[in-house]
Amino acid sequence: MKRALAVVGTRPDAIKMAPVVLELLKHEDLATTVVASGQHREMLEQVFSAFGISADRNFDVMKQGQTLGYLTSAILEGMEKAISDYEPDIVIAQGDTTTTFVAGLAAFYAQKPFAHVEAGLRTPTIDSPFPEEFNRRAVGLITALHFPPTMFSAENLFKEGVAADSVLVTGNTSIDAIQLLASSRVADDDSRMILVTTHRRENWGEPQRDICRAVARILDAFPECTVVLPMHRNPVVREVLEQELGGHPRVSLIEPPEYPEFVDLMARSHLILTDSGGVQEEAPALGKPVLVLRTETERPEGIVAGNAKLVGTDPDKIFEAAQTLLNDTDAYAVVAQARNPYGDGLAARRVVSRIRSFLGLPAEAIDPFEG
Ligand code: UD1
Ligand code: UDP
Repeated sequence: MKRALAVVGTRPDAIKMAPVVLELLKHEDLATTVVASGQHREMLEQVFSAFGISADRNFDVMKQGQTLGYLTSAILEGMEKAISDYEPDIVIAQGDTTTTFVAGLAAFYAQKPFAHVEAGLRTPTIDSPFPEEFNRRAVGLITALHFPPTMFSAENLFKEGVAADSVLVTGNTSIDAIQLLASSRVADDDSRMILVTTHRRENWGEPQRDICRAVARILDAFPECTVVLPMHRNPVVREVLEQELGGHPRVSLIEPPEYPEFVDLMARSHLILTDSGGVQEEAPALGKPVLVLRTETERPEGIVAGNAKLVGTDPDKIFEAAQTLLNDTDAYAVVAQARNPYGDGLAARRVVSRIRSFLGLPAEAIDPFEG
């Protein structure tokens, strides 16, 4: 019996691995074990419960104010033991978190093949986003099967000399995830609600204060608008948000909703401001314009397709871009109707089919993602 080890650790990698795990579990000739690093606790549990998944083992590493060095060493220890106990024929992880980097490193040390879901995303700068750009580049060095979501991300890998037969363009599994949970949901559009999320390390401190200042300015100029801001559980992030926007009569600072409720919020919103990676992919799938609160993005597809605009954290730039979308219904319609470039809902099946053929198991043929 062949064995697969799927590794998750944070909210976003759990959401994007969930469709892959559910697909892997359909096959009885491949024993799938799920391990959670526990890099996140409540936010990870929310994802497991939304998808009805459970971890066979949880390293439970999370502590308040965890440093990257602590996370790396604690997860590496857990991974080494998990690989030794479960003896997988392949290790699978997604994206660019510390959990993913360490899962790849542990697989390399144990000389096990590593499959990387959402491979090939790149910015030109190794420290932006920090430390995720390093994580995904580093893991790419030891990956046997690369699953870039789009042709654009595949090209990044080819430019780095990655062999074509180790690459399969799949679409992003985030679109599978949203379809798994949101297909039956019909939300009323609330033309006054702006959804905001911010948690990225490169925005901690002053940039996040600037984002809050822009939000306050938008609300001053548009008295009919309200803001819903689900706060990441990180205390560093919360402190700034609460200081800057707590008590504003038209800002709801809320606990992070479970994924299905968050999808409903996105579907109900008129406009989304975010520095999240995953939200940049999901918003276009729901026909919502996104202002990206980063100076660089590894997801240019949305910018090219016209769903998203890169505005950084300068309050003037954020305000001007929001003003245009809130004032100009034609400009809004163009953005809202742009094609979703990120996936077609079949990404997990493509990933699992390729993993199976790699392991010498029968594999279904699926049409390529036309991205
Ligand atoms: C990590 C990922 C980032 C991803 C983000 C998604 C890395 C290097 N970064 O961010 O790519 O966008 O997760 O959320 O892997 N906390 C809780 N409960 C939870 C989760 C977090 O209390 O369920 C608090 C803890 O105090 C924890 C802190 O948040 O110490 C930060 O968590 P951490 O995983 O270190 O977050 P980031 O590295 O910022
Ligand atoms: N998300 C959620 N609840 C929230 C905010 C986000 O379920 O309160 C989901 C969102 O739909 C997306 C994922 O979490 O699928 C993105 O995670 P996050 O923004 O934490 O990380 P990133 O994508 O930036 O790495």
